[in-house]
Formats: sequence, C-alpha cells, structure tokens
Amino acid sequence: MRLQTKRSETGEVKKSASIEARLKDEARFFRNWLENPKVTGAVSPSGRFLARMMARYVDPSISGPIIELGPGTGPVTQALLAKGIAPERLILVEFDTKFCELLAKRFPRCRIVQGDAYDLAGTLAGVLDEPAAAVVSSLPLLNKPDAVRLGLLREAFQLMRPEGCFVQFTYGMVSPIPRRSKGRPNPFFIAEPSPAVLLNLPPARVWVYRPATSHVPVPKRRAGALMIKLRDNLRERRERVEMEIRLRTAKARRELELQSLRMRNEPALRPAFAFLRKIGEPKPPRS
Ligand SMILES: C[S@@+](CC[C@H](N)C(=O)[O-])C[C@H]1O[C@@H](n2cnc3c(N)ncnc32)[C@H](O)[C@@H]1O
Repeated sequence: MRLQTKRSETGEVKKSASIEARLKDEARFFRNWLENPKVTGAVSPSGRFLARMMARYVDPSISGPIIELGPGTGPVTQALLAKGIAPERLILVEFDTKFCELLAKRFPRCRIVQGDAYDLAGTLAGVLDEPAAAVVSSLPLLNKPDAVRLGLLREAFQLMRPEGCFVQFTYGMVSPIPRRSKGRPNPFFIAEPSPAVLLNLPPARVWVYRPATSHVPVPKRRAGALMIKLRDNLRERRERVEMEIRLRTAKARRELELQSLRMRNEPALRPAFAFLRKIGEPKPPRS
C-alpha cells in the first residue's frame, strides 16, 4: 500500500516537473517571438502530435545524418529521438544563440550548429561529411519570398541522398514551398501533404518534398532496369561530387574571409592597406 502511494507521488512529481519544463519553454519561446517575431515564426513551440507527425516521415533506415532546421527548444528533436534515431545522427541548425545553448544542454550528443539555414551549404561546411538522409524543417518559410524557399529546397536536395526527403510543417492551407511559380509548375520536386494535425494549437499540416527524379518508374525489361540503375548510380555520384564541391568552396570562402580580416587588423600591414586603398580611390575628373 505504501509502495503504491509512493509510486503515485513520484508520478505526480514527474508530471508537475514536465509541466513546469513545458511552461518554461513556452515562456522562452514567447520572449524570443517578442524580440524577433519573423525569425521565431510562432508564439509557442510545436505540440507533441505535430512533432510526431514530422518524425513519422523520416526513414531511419536510410543512412546518413538527419538535419533539423530551426529546432528551437527541441520538440521535433525529441520526437526524432523517440523514434529511435541515434542522437549522433542529428545535426541541429539553429539561428538563435539562446536556443543553441539550451539545445546543447538538452541534447548533448547531437551536433548543434549556430547559423543561417538559408545558406545551408555554407553553414554546414566542415560539419556535413556525407549526404544527409533527410532534412526536417520548422523554419517560418512563409516570411520568405518564393525564390528563397525554392532555393532552400534545391540546396537541401543537393546535400541529401536521392531517396531522402525534406519535411516541413505549416499552419497554412497550401504547400509552403510554391508548387507553381509565375503560373508554371516547379517540376523539380513532388509534394505530399499529411493529414491535418488538429490537436496542435493552431492546427497544422506537414508537407514532404522529394526530388521529382526519385520516383523513377520500375522498368519491366531487365536491360532497361540495368540502364536505369547505371543512370541512378551516375546521378548519385555526380550529386556527391557537386555536394563536396559546394561544401569545400563554402569552407574555402570562409577561411579566405577570416584570413583577410586578420591581415587587415595586422598593425604591420596597415600602411600597406592604406596605400592600396589610396591608389584604388577614383581619381578626380580632369578639368
Ligand atoms: C516556428 S519555430 C519552430 C521551433 C521548433 N522546431 C518547434 O517546432 O517548436 C522556428 C525556429 O526556426 C529558427 N530559425 C528561424 N530562421 C532561421 C534561420 N535562418 N536559420 C536557422 N534557424 C532559424 C527560429 O529561431 C526558431 O527556433
């Protein structure tokens, strides 16, 4: 009897601790939204039903890291971990430094990258060393122009395995990545909506995007199958090389910028820079 009472007390303590943690997250999130509504994009973190719906579309059997964009306080991260994905596979890209600090405490075995998800290759330079299995995004996409959203999807596809997918939630009624631009369809991807998550506040929906080429029809003839396999292999290799080039270029660009910054601040080189600036100035027109 005593044991039972103790168990229920422990349960109560656990429950109230989790409610307290949730309220703290709500407060943190709301504060961030007040400071920067366009970046935070929502007044409170996603509920667990929405987070689970996001995680449902990630196939853990596809090898490679899983990139989460805009993890915030981590409800989607938590759902991905609950699905059995190893924390070491998760790369969390978050813009806000306070959220990054919180995520580092909460998910010490995940890789946390503070940076801009809209410059994905640059932000992940030196971090991503193989194609990703999926990209899971909670970014407030609707604040960005169509071209930026499409650019993000293209970039994500380039960093992913061809069979991977890009998962995004929205509170809107239509696909947050425009399926048509200037009246024409965007043929490079296919989009599939989830059922509405009515238990989230506000109700939301998850969209899953895949490269249009990932749905190659299964060929009937053996020779055709071999050709398609060969073509897919070549495409995968090309995509890997392209990704490697993008990552290395972004890394080199960053190193160059850092070096030139260091040189500019080097006292011994200041006169030389002043001289170069002077000779680079436009000459006054001759009268
Ligand atoms: C709508 S909240 C979602 C947070 C969390 N995933 C959830 O579902 O509760 C959007 C998150 O994206 C982050 N974010 C916004 N713009 C970003 C950017 N350019 N790069 C990385 N993260 C960004 C915000 O800081 C915020 O944490």
